[in-house]
Amino acid sequence: MAKAKTLFFCQNCGYESAKWLGKCPSCGTWNSFVEELTKSKSTSADKNEWRARGGRPAAAPKKVAEITHERELRINSKNSELNRVLGGGIVPGSVVLIAGEPGIGKSTLMLQIALTVNCKVLYVSGEESEQQIKMRADRLDSMKLAADECYILAETDTNDIFTQAEELKPDVLILDSIQTLHSANVESAAGSVSQVKQCTAELIKFAKETNTPVFLVGHITKEGAIAGPKVLEHMVDTVLQFEGDRHLSYRILRTTKNRFGSTSELGIYEMLGSGLREVSNPSEILISQKEGDLSGVTIGATIEGNRPLMIEIQSLVSTAAYGTPQRSSTGFEPRRLNMLLAVLEKRCGFRLGLQDVFLNMAGGIKVEDPAIDLAVCCAVVSSLEEISIPEKACFAAEVGLGGELRAVNRIESRIAEAEKLGFEEIYISKFGMKGAEQSKFKITIKPFAKINDVFSDLLG
Ligand code: TYD
Ligand code: MG
Repeated sequence: MAKAKTLFFCQNCGYESAKWLGKCPSCGTWNSFVEELTKSKSTSADKNEWRARGGRPAAAPKKVAEITHERELRINSKNSELNRVLGGGIVPGSVVLIAGEPGIGKSTLMLQIALTVNCKVLYVSGEESEQQIKMRADRLDSMKLAADECYILAETDTNDIFTQAEELKPDVLILDSIQTLHSANVESAAGSVSQVKQCTAELIKFAKETNTPVFLVGHITKEGAIAGPKVLEHMVDTVLQFEGDRHLSYRILRTTKNRFGSTSELGIYEMLGSGLREVSNPSEILISQKEGDLSGVTIGATIEGNRPLMIEIQSLVSTAAYGTPQRSSTGFEPRRLNMLLAVLEKRCGFRLGLQDVFLNMAGGIKVEDPAIDLAVCCAVVSSLEEISIPEKACFAAEVGLGGELRAVNRIESRIAEAEKLGFEEIYISKFGMKGAEQSKFKITIKPFAKINDVFSDLLG
């Protein structure tokens, strides 16, 4: 007889505890514990109905040299941005998690893939009915190219999904979303940590045993964690983050984990009335926001978390109208700004003492990465001297008190991101390229030792 057991799970990180705790010992979140009933039936996940019917004998250990694998065959998703972030196409048997905030376009992207990929696809939705999905599909441009091998199933029970999948034998399985799935092997509500864990484990097993690639859609909470279960991230093979400002039409698809490719890739889309358009020249996003040359604007290559990101920095320097000059910054530490202004005054001879200085990180982003220093200094000097910085130039270096340029971490990913976004030159510290391979980049790398040298190069 199955024994009902209740456990408490942190809804943020999935930490489990036998009793309720006010603060999670693992991630430090307060009030995140929720009681969940976990009924471990005598049939464990290994003895699912679908497995029991066609199960293979348990695997025996093999020598690594003896393991043969077929030529790594990837399925072309017919969507070049998705292919890029996956590292060259869909890997059979892989489990990919597409995470993003509600309304960002995950279902649209997945449906588009389902319609365009040239093989048999089963799109399982627990969020929308078949009619709703059809209505959405009719809006999409991709519908015109649709192969007649795209199947839709509105279902949330994993056993029923596997039964259907076994019968249909799809080449690609899409599940929208993991939070709506429900497994009969665990007795707690859909979307709870134990359900999400269990369903993912079953799906991974299905993917590995049938060699079917599985796409999972996952909703993210406001804090940026995949709703509740961060546990999901380490279970799957690939995690793709779908992000963007809902008020702007651009969407970025980033790899944050990939067992079959690099994590520095990103794909860019534009949300149109007729679905997501692939943006093959991403620099258009940054350039389109500026008309003509503007002084006081620079682009810095930063890293946020583990993601490289190009950020526009705006500065305005004007003669102080009142006695004490004002220094105001948005998205950048004010004390750090004061320090950089002192360096510019003392080491480079710019007269900033009687000037108001305003600094703004465009897009409301907060930057703590010191690599932004050089871009901040250049923005300030550009505004002071009324000289615009070439729009295809960007910066990544920390500025020291002596006016020296200091090396920053992960310079290669910053350079790669700048190149990917269409920049033509990047100013970095002379000491930053040690051991890094310069020849593999097409972008012009300008290494300098002193901030003064950067100004001589830029301003002549
Ligand atoms: P959706 O894919 O439902 O988001 P998610 O699955 O991530 O929650 O996308 C929702 C938004 O996309 C919605 O606000 C409308 C917009 N949209 C378009 O602008 N064009 C389109 O062709 C479609 C299908 C949606
Ligand atoms: Mg959706």
